[in-house]
Amino acid sequence: MKSLATTSFLCALLLFGVLLPFSSNAQLDPSFYNNTCPNVSSIVRDVIRNVSKTDTRMLASLVRLHFHECFVQGCDASVLLNTTDTIVTEQDAFPNINSLRGLDVVNKIKTAVESVCPNTVSCADILALAAELSSTLSQGPDWKVPLGRRGSLTANQTLANQNLPAPFNSLDQLKAAFAKQGLNTTDLVALSGAHTFGKAHCSLFVSQLYNFCNTNNLHPIHLTTTNQFLSFRSVFRLPLTNLLTISNA
Ligand code: HEM
Ligand SMILES: *[C@@H]1O[C@H](CO)[C@@H](O)[C@H](O)[C@H]1NC(C)=O
Ligand SMILES: *[C@@H]1O[C@H](CO)[C@@H](O)[C@H](O)[C@H]1NC(C)=O
Ligand SMILES: *[C@@H]1O[C@H](CO)[C@@H](O)[C@H](O)[C@H]1NC(C)=O
Ligand SMILES: *[C@@H]1O[C@H](CO)[C@@H](O)[C@H](O)[C@H]1NC(C)=O
Ligand SMILES: *[C@@H]1O[C@H](CO)[C@@H](O)[C@H](O)[C@H]1NC(C)=O
Ligand SMILES: *[C@@H]1O[C@H](CO)[C@@H](O)[C@H](O)[C@H]1NC(C)=O
Repeated sequence: MKSLATTSFLCALLLFGVLLPFSSNAQLDPSFYNNTCPNVSSIVRDVIRNVSKTDTRMLASLVRLHFHECFVQGCDASVLLNTTDTIVTEQDAFPNINSLRGLDVVNKIKTAVESVCPNTVSCADILALAAELSSTLSQGPDWKVPLGRRGSLTANQTLANQNLPAPFNSLDQLKAAFAKQGLNTTDLVALSGAHTFGKAHCSLFVSQLYNFCNTNNLHPIHLTTTNQFLSFRSVFRLPLTNLLTISNA
């Protein structure tokens, strides 16, 4: 689609053009667009709010999209890049394929932002803003979003498969995956709280429940004394506390 092509193109422009004066270590700052696109946050929020009227789950999907893009090469929007002669898309990595949502919404946001502030706001910043605004729009926590990221010209599917945690990982593996990103166990526990919204495929966590997919009857493992250890393990191995389920069909 034209919009995504435009998106990638503009990210390339940003990389070489507008942001060139800043060194790669430049500090990010929430006021980065104060002069060049002061209203960027409202523009992003309006698109997300509109989409979420017909697709509430999108708020969760945009939070996850930010997580999945940041764990691979940093928060550089590399997840948006499609396969080309030189790029193997991260979108087809195991944790993403048939699972990642919201790329179309990012296109909508980018188009809306471009119409007000052409060639100014990076796709990486849009993803970061979209995650925070999705959280606040669903009455979740808010935070100041440091801005001024640059988009990548490369993606790395291998790294996506290596870095993104899997639902069957042990606690040690989860801790290691987060440590690789400079995140500690407190961060792991706090960020796992994102699983209080959104949906997951039953097949990914049924092994930690009893017969759930087959009987459509969630056993109260979180309430029974004998199974508290299993419950605790489940929470850490795949902390899908309140996630609804979607059929695997
Ligand atoms: C700690 C390691 C993590 C593991 C193993 C994990 C695993 C998963 C899995 C397997 C799903 C379901 C995917 C599907 O069925 O298509 C999921 C969904 C989700 N994850 Fe995680 N995740 C982790 C951490 C995080 C973090 C750090 C965030 C964000 C801060 C996050 C946000 C979400 C959200 C919002 C959903 C629902 C997405 C939607 O409905 O589209 N997860 N996660
Ligand atoms: C990426 O792939 C999607 C889905 O096939 C397509 O709609 C979009 O136009 C592609 N974007 C680019 C930049 O090639
Ligand atoms: C940027 O704008 C915000 C909101 O208007 C304001 O709170 C902040 O002080 C501004 N920052 C700078 C550095 O101008
Ligand atoms: C900022 O954007 C919002 C939503 O698009 C709009 O209602 C408002 O008028 C805009 N403000 C300025 C100063 O452009
Ligand atoms: C809001 O979403 C509807 C579809 O759900 C779309 O037709 C409309 O153009 C959108 N409006 C804006 C301002 O994005
Ligand atoms: C992707 O990441 C892997 C693992 O770190 C690395 O060996 C490889 O060179 C990277 N590939 C590209 C295309 O950057
Ligand atoms: C994780 O790091 C934060 C500071 O970034 C610190 O407050 C917290 O105590 C650390 N947690 C652990 C388990 O080390």
